[in-house]
Parts: sequence; structure tokens; C-alpha cells
Amino acid sequence: MLLKLQKTYKQHLVYSKLKYLFYIFIFLSIGCSSDNNSSSDDEGYTPIPNPELTFEIPSNFPETTYDLSQNPPTERGFELGKKLFYDGQLASDGVVSCGFCHIQSFAFTHHTHITSHGVDGKIGERNAQPLHNLAFMQDFTWDGATTFLDSQPIIPLTAEKEMNETISNVLSKLENDPNYPEMFANAFGSEGVTAERMFKALSQFMVLMVSANSKFDKWQRGESVTFTDDEEAGRILFDTNCASCHAGSLQTDQSYRNNGLPADPEFMDNGREKVTGLPEDSFKFKVPSLRNIEITFPYMHDGRLATLEDVLDFYSDGVEDSETLDPILRQTDGSLGIPLTSDEKNQLIAFLKTLTDNDFLLDNRFAEF
Ligand code: HEC
Ligand code: HEC
Repeated sequence: MLLKLQKTYKQHLVYSKLKYLFYIFIFLSIGCSSDNNSSSDDEGYTPIPNPELTFEIPSNFPETTYDLSQNPPTERGFELGKKLFYDGQLASDGVVSCGFCHIQSFAFTHHTHITSHGVDGKIGERNAQPLHNLAFMQDFTWDGATTFLDSQPIIPLTAEKEMNETISNVLSKLENDPNYPEMFANAFGSEGVTAERMFKALSQFMVLMVSANSKFDKWQRGESVTFTDDEEAGRILFDTNCASCHAGSLQTDQSYRNNGLPADPEFMDNGREKVTGLPEDSFKFKVPSLRNIEITFPYMHDGRLATLEDVLDFYSDGVEDSETLDPILRQTDGSLGIPLTSDEKNQLIAFLKTLTDNDFLLDNRFAEF
């Protein structure tokens, strides 16, 4: 059994390495493809108006990490990105679109799925992450496999257990589609269905997914909202016990840490180590934002915890020791985790619910229909 596990694990490592080389290759080739926005005088193509969309940084947020000047969202680019996001043609089975696993009303997570569910019912190893405030993130996925939002979609597009496609196949489907060639031209000012443009359009759609209107945001900005006694008590508990990792307006310091979840023998998912190859990164995962956490269940990278109560029970009683366990979770008396009474847990949950942003969850701009 152990041997078998070790073998799969080794295969996985080899696969990961190949996967990363492949991404580099794709990006070099995309980088070389010429994308001349000034060629709008292409024969037979007359550009139509394409106003830039405004992107405002909420006053309680940090600067963006995404360089908007390199890919400014426009009306037609956003429209194209949205169509691509909801289009099953991007997958080998014609069904599994990005929106299949990222459902808006659940903050773009895959509701009811513990780990992701791709083409032919194939089950992945990780819980689909919410999509919001991506313009402010330094890197993406639970282990930070990519540092550039434009390249992130290559992972699901080509993963066998997700969309199981090749970039060139997708491009040829789009070329032969009755609508896409015109939409690409309108979005980028000249004809051409290219990978770079496809990824830029997806990013234009995704960077505008800014969630900044929860009760917590309004409180941070000094707008007229008041926390209930429980919410306020929960906020103080959160500041003391959680905010060293789940920090700031985005509730993440964007670091990778081991929060003491027992290792899962089924997937042997060692997290950040897959990317860096460093044993000291073993079982570390990106500190997730807790925005909209009320509705992004189940929780953790593999969706193993069903409710917020389970999460808090885990922090108070379930933290497991290991060499890479985050030192913050070791108390001075040698005990592990974060001691919390059941009242304190209820107060923390009341506070966590102030992070729900209904304006974002119901924002029509992102809706499929
Ligand atoms: C089969 C389900 C599935 C499909 C289809 C899918 N995703 Fe995901 N998505 C996931 C999972 C699971 C993760 C976490 C991956 C990981 O940590 O390895 C994720 C992570 C992401 C992230 C990183 C979020 C963050 O905060 O770091 C982005 C961005 C994203 N997906 C965008 C897309 C786009 C764009 C598409 C379509 C091209 C897409 N996804 C298709 C399941 C899916
Ligand atoms: C030492 C850093 C650290 C501390 C302290 C910490 N967390 Fe976390 N938290 C993490 C990491 C890392 C993860 C992701 C772990 C994984 O999926 O393997 C996480 C995951 C979570 C999740 C699941 C998020 C999701 O999207 O699935 C919730 C909810 C959560 N923490 C709440 C809390 C609360 C509430 C506290 C305080 C009582 C707290 N955390 C304290 C690092 C921390």
C-alpha cells in the first residue's frame, strides 16, 4: 500500500514538473505571437466603439497586483471574456465551462462539490476556489502554481480531470464559431482569434469581479453600519486569533502556511512543495481570503470540512502537529491550535457572516444569463 502511494506520489511529481514546463512553453509561444492592436485597418474590418470600463480600487483595499495598463478592461473585451467563461466549447465534452465549476451565487465556487468535478465526471483533488478580488492577488490556486492571472486558465483548460482540452483545439473551435471571430475583432480592434487574446479577455472579465461591499467593508470605510454585539465580539476574537494570517481587507496575507490539517492519505497533497520543491513548504497552502465564506462551503483545499462550526472545531481541537505546522498555532503551554469556547465560536461565526457581499453575488454583470 505504502509502496503504491509512494509510486503515485512520484508520478505526480513528475507530472507536475512536466506540467510546469508545458506552461512555460505555451507562454513563450504566446509571447511570440504578434498581437498588433494598431492593425485596425485590416482589410474588411471596421472597428466599432469599444469604451474602456472603469476600475475603481475600493478605498479600504490595497493597490492592484494585476497591471491594468497592459490589459485595460473594455466593454467588448469583458463581453468576450464573459462568453468564454460560460462556454462549454472550451472543454473536450462541450459542457464543462469555467462557470460550471465557478458558480456566481456561491462566490464562483462549485456548490455541493467537495473537490472539483470535470469532464466525464472526473473528480479532481482540490476544492474549487471562489473568484473575487483576483486583481489584488499575487498568485493563484491553493499552492500558487501561477503568478499571472492571464496564464491561470491554462491549468483548467488542459487538466485531464477538468476541461481536458488543448489550446490549439479550443482556438480552432472558436475560429469556426459563427460569433467569436467578430467578437475577438471588436474586443481587440483587429481580426485574429489568438490564445493571448482569449486569456486577456478572460482576465478582463475576472479582474472586474471585485467584492467590496460586505457589511465588514462598509464598517472599514466608516459607512453607517453597526455590528451587533456578537459580530463585534467576533471581530475582536478574529483580530486576536485569526488576522495574523487572514489579514487586512482581503483576509489574507497571501502567504503559504500549514494550519495543521491532518495529512490526507488519499491525495498526498503536499501543497506549496509541489511548486517550490522545498521540503519546508510541505503541506502549506495559500491562506485563503474569507470573503463570502458563509456560502463557499465546503472548506479547506480539499473541501473536507462541511460547515463553519466544523472549521472552528478543527482550530480548537483538531490541529495536528508536524514539522511545518505554523508556529502561530503552537501555544506557549505546548498545546496546539486556538482555544475557543462555544460562545466564542458563535461570535466568530457571526463576524464571518459580515463578510458576505450580496451586491457581488447578485451583480448582473457577471450572471450567465
Ligand atoms: C472542473 C472544475 C473547474 C473548471 C472547469 C475550472 N476551474 Fe478554476 N478552479 C478549480 C479548482 C479546483 C481550483 C483550485 C485549483 C488548485 O488549487 O489547484 C480553481 C482555481 C481557479 C483560479 C484561482 C483562484 C485563486 O484565488 O487563486 C482561477 C482564477 C480560476 N480557477 C479560473 C478558472 C477559469 C478562467 C476557468 C475556465 C477556463 C476555470 N477556472 C475552470 C476548478 C475549476
Ligand atoms: C497560521 C495561519 C492561520 C491562522 C492563525 C488561521 N488560519 Fe484559517 N486558514 C489558514 C490556511 C493556510 C488555510 C487553508 C488550509 C488548507 O486548505 O489546507 C485556512 C483556511 C481557513 C478556512 C477555510 C477557507 C476556505 O476557503 O475553504 C476558514 C473558514 C478559516 N481558515 C478560518 C479561520 C479562523 C476563523 C481563524 C481564527 C480562529 C483562522 N482561520 C486562523 C491559515 C490560518
